[in-house]
Amino acid sequence: MRVTGTGHASMRIDTAAGSILCDPWVNPAYFASWFPFPDNSLLDWEALGDVDYLYVSHLHRDHFDAAHLKRFVSKDATVLLPAFPTSEMEDELRELGFTKFLKAPNEQVVELDGGLKIMIQALTSPTDGPIGDSSLWVEYDGVRLLNQNDARPTDLSAFAELGHVHAHMLQFSGAIWYPMVYELPQAAKTAFGKQKRDRQFDRTWRYIDDLKADHVFPIAGPPCFLDDELWQFNDIHGDEGNIFPDQSVFLSEYAKVGGTNGVVLLPGSVAEITTSGASTTHPVPVEEFFANKVAHLEEMRERKRPVIEAEKASWRHPEVDVLKEMQRRIEPLLEESIYLAKGVGGPVRFDLVSYDGESVESIVVDFPGKQVRPYADEKVRYRFRTERALIEHLLHIGEVDWVNSLFLSCRFSAARIGQYNEFVYAFFKCLSTERLQYAEGWYDEHERSTDAEDITLGDWVVQRRCPHLKADLTRFGIVEGDQLTCQLHGWRFDLASGRCLTSVGHKVRAHRAGEQQTPAPAGEAAS
Ligand code: FES
Repeated sequence: MRVTGTGHASMRIDTAAGSILCDPWVNPAYFASWFPFPDNSLLDWEALGDVDYLYVSHLHRDHFDAAHLKRFVSKDATVLLPAFPTSEMEDELRELGFTKFLKAPNEQVVELDGGLKIMIQALTSPTDGPIGDSSLWVEYDGVRLLNQNDARPTDLSAFAELGHVHAHMLQFSGAIWYPMVYELPQAAKTAFGKQKRDRQFDRTWRYIDDLKADHVFPIAGPPCFLDDELWQFNDIHGDEGNIFPDQSVFLSEYAKVGGTNGVVLLPGSVAEITTSGASTTHPVPVEEFFANKVAHLEEMRERKRPVIEAEKASWRHPEVDVLKEMQRRIEPLLEESIYLAKGVGGPVRFDLVSYDGESVESIVVDFPGKQVRPYADEKVRYRFRTERALIEHLLHIGEVDWVNSLFLSCRFSAARIGQYNEFVYAFFKCLSTERLQYAEGWYDEHERSTDAEDITLGDWVVQRRCPHLKADLTRFGIVEGDQLTCQLHGWRFDLASGRCLTSVGHKVRAHRAGEQQTPAPAGEAAS
């Protein structure tokens, strides 16, 4: 099996029975904030796009690049489609000209022509991608590969059961706006960033240890930030709180925990993987490339400047009445929302800075009041400050996912009182009836499902499944004193009270070993 690195989470898998192009991403994403790192735009995409199969793991724009798919990927390719709850990905791909779809039944091995086998695991919680993320397992001639990209399954047993895996591709770096955009003192930001960076690596080690593949390929990040306004987010400034470590940092951190089987793919690197080993050739020596990272980024920044400027010029739509349009788009959804609105629990304020950077218009999305209205000098727990032009653009194009556009752009600042609240982001990811209904239904089911099994961790008996996204706490749970940490996303819980210390709601059931359990009050998790 041959794997060609094509940048970020993208790769082309070639076998004698057919080729699969995964997640080709080249054009900047999220308001021209993210670019693939290392640069992959100079690869021969005409040739790379001439494939038998296309796999797009999910709709995040650093995986689903509509313009690139349209221009470069053969429309004769059969799309290997994850079993997502909505048809959005298929609809979008059909619009781009794809007509052949293989809807892979979830977690079932499918045999394609010539003995090529695949299995796709679709994750379907509202917090996975924009309604769904997925991983692709491939087997040909005894060689097995798992392309986990940035999916976060609770465990990898569905793949491990299919036999020893030879190549494991997974995310290791950051892909979020936290903590950089928060209005915090620099020292706090650095401390939170460092925690986040450590947690990302811990989670990666956990997955690697779960699967015990012969070779581990760090993929799906980091992006690079080429706009001068965002340049500081690149991990080139010696900031230990930077959440975007690169592949060479992965190798050195991995070595510290005893990892010796890491393989970095640059765009254009080719790995030949067999059941007994892997040999990789690179377009330039890997160490030399990372030693010259700053020069690479600076050269790329100059080359991409016109692309960024052209994108920026398209954002302003002064004809859009932002308050009115937000009312028209968001108020009907507030009416429909039960779980998410209850989970947010209060007003969310948007401060919109005018084109000249002078005046500010404040708009409140009032979840309890079910309305969008001007800010009325009240206390709010969640506040975002961004350019008015960005919101105009989102409203102009009818964007249904403000996480997969505005928030991932990092072109905003944020302040909050108290804990992270996942419901805020779940709501702004679901600005269509179809998405909102799905998310509401998911939380409804999630709330009702009783998870009766308990396990013992240290001195505590706790529910086996994490209250966040049901990670198995026998694998991901760590108890230190009276605190439980689930390493899948790093959420922490106070065991004595059951309270989640990371996010609103999500109480854990726990009691000291040998003591009676106190039942959790009904509905606590979403309050
Ligand atoms: S499943 Fe997300 S923190 Fe446990």
